[in-house]
Formats: sequence, structure tokens, C-alpha cells
Amino acid sequence: MKHSVKTICQLKQEGKKISMLTSYDYTTAKIVDEVGIEIVLVGDSLSNVFQGNDTTVPVTIDEMIYHGKVVVKGVKNALVVIDMPFGTYQINEESAVENAIKIIKETNAQAVKLEGGIEIEHCIKRITNAGIPVMGHLGLTPQSIHQIGSFELQATTKEAQNKILQDAVALEKAGCFAVVLEKIPSFIAKEITSLLNIPVIGIGAGNHCDGQVLVINDLIGLDPSFKPKFVRQYLNAHSLISAAVKQYHEDVKSGGFPSEKESY
Ligand code: KIV
Repeated sequence: MKHSVKTICQLKQEGKKISMLTSYDYTTAKIVDEVGIEIVLVGDSLSNVFQGNDTTVPVTIDEMIYHGKVVVKGVKNALVVIDMPFGTYQINEESAVENAIKIIKETNAQAVKLEGGIEIEHCIKRITNAGIPVMGHLGLTPQSIHQIGSFELQATTKEAQNKILQDAVALEKAGCFAVVLEKIPSFIAKEITSLLNIPVIGIGAGNHCDGQVLVINDLIGLDPSFKPKFVRQYLNAHSLISAAVKQYHEDVKSGGFPSEKESY
């Protein structure tokens, strides 16, 4: 069954958990989709894990579109959401809706994700009015890293907790079909999840959310040096790939590869 924002929202109404994972290329997206993950996110985290940048700030709209296109080709059933990168929705509503349309038109994905609360509700209204579903993103919003200062836990003060509650309500009112909560205390995520009618997807936001999202590189353990508390590493892909590449290197050097059977 091909997922839409409707079927995703239905999962919350039915009390079923929603599973979301990032993908940045065709082959990985195909695996993720075949497993039955409901939402594939082409996250701007590709700036870090694919491009090697320190932050998500440098990735461009054309780079997001490139990855979006190849991911969409690998996905049959999941809803594909693409991050609007930094600078594509902060200037004004006109350029925000123009950029959202460009992303959807050129990638064939079904939705976009934007970081921020009340300050971007006007953009969300314009984009949803244009017929494009929007996923919100609150808590740790990495595009604002230079303002936040560090990737630490968010919403730790009463004031910040009230603000995130108000932001979540504003995002739902503005027309978001779902909201991601990143790196906030579990009890606030729980409160927001019961307050909103739309699905709340957590990353480092505890187990009370309607669903969970992770960066696939973290889930498969591609970079052992990056292991925040909220990541569960299901595989040590770094050591498996490293061992295979080492073996290949040794076989080439020793003349053991290719064998007779591997030759024409
Ligand atoms: O860019 C990304 O991968 C994200 C997830 C961490 C939610 O926004």
C-alpha cells in the first residue's frame, strides 16, 4: 500500500506506532521501503553523513533534489519527505513556497520538512495552501546550530518547555501533517504527543511519541565515533565493511583475486 499523509495520520488514530528512517541513495531507500518503514526522510543530515560537513547549514536545494530524486526511485510504498535546506524558507513566504514546489516537482516526493515553530507558521500555511504536505521539526533544530551553540538537550527550562508546547500547537494549526521532536526530555514529548491530533515522531524524545526516526548511518553503525545516547546501533557496519575491504586489498596484493572461477 502506498502511504500518504492520510494513511500516516490514520496510524496515530489507530494507536499504531510509525516508523521513519532517513535514506540518501536508491539502493538503501529500496531496502528501507521493502522492510515496510512508513516514512523515508531525505534528511539534510546528508550534509553531515554523506558530504562530510560539520553542520547541515551548507547543503543546497539542488543537492537535496539530487538525493530526493534517487531515493524516490527506490521507494514503492513509503511516504517520502524531503528536508527544505537552510536558507530556502527563512527569507519570505514567496520564496518558501517557490522552493517547496521546486523540490516536489523535481523529485516526485510527497512532502517537505521545515525546522522551526511560530516564526515559520506563515510559510507553512503558504506551502500547505499550495497543496504540499509539511512535516514540522522542533526541539534541536540543527539548521540553527550557530544560534543554539551546541547539539545539547533542548527544552530543559520551564520557559523553553512552554515555548515548545506553543510551537507544536501552532504547527498543527498552520497545517502540518506531523511533527518531529528532536532531543528533548521524554515527559515534554509525551505531553505534546497527547496534546496534538497529528502524529509526533521522536528522535531522542523518548518512547511516548507516535513514532520514531533515526539517521540510517547511525542505526547501522557506519561511524563508530558518533554514538549519542538516543541512537541504538543495530549493526557494526563500519567493522564489517572495513574487514571486507581489508580482505579484498590483501587478496589483490597477494594475487589471490580474481580466481580462475572469477575470470573469463
Ligand atoms: O536531517 C535529518 O536526518 C533529520 C532527522 C534527524 C529527523 O532531520
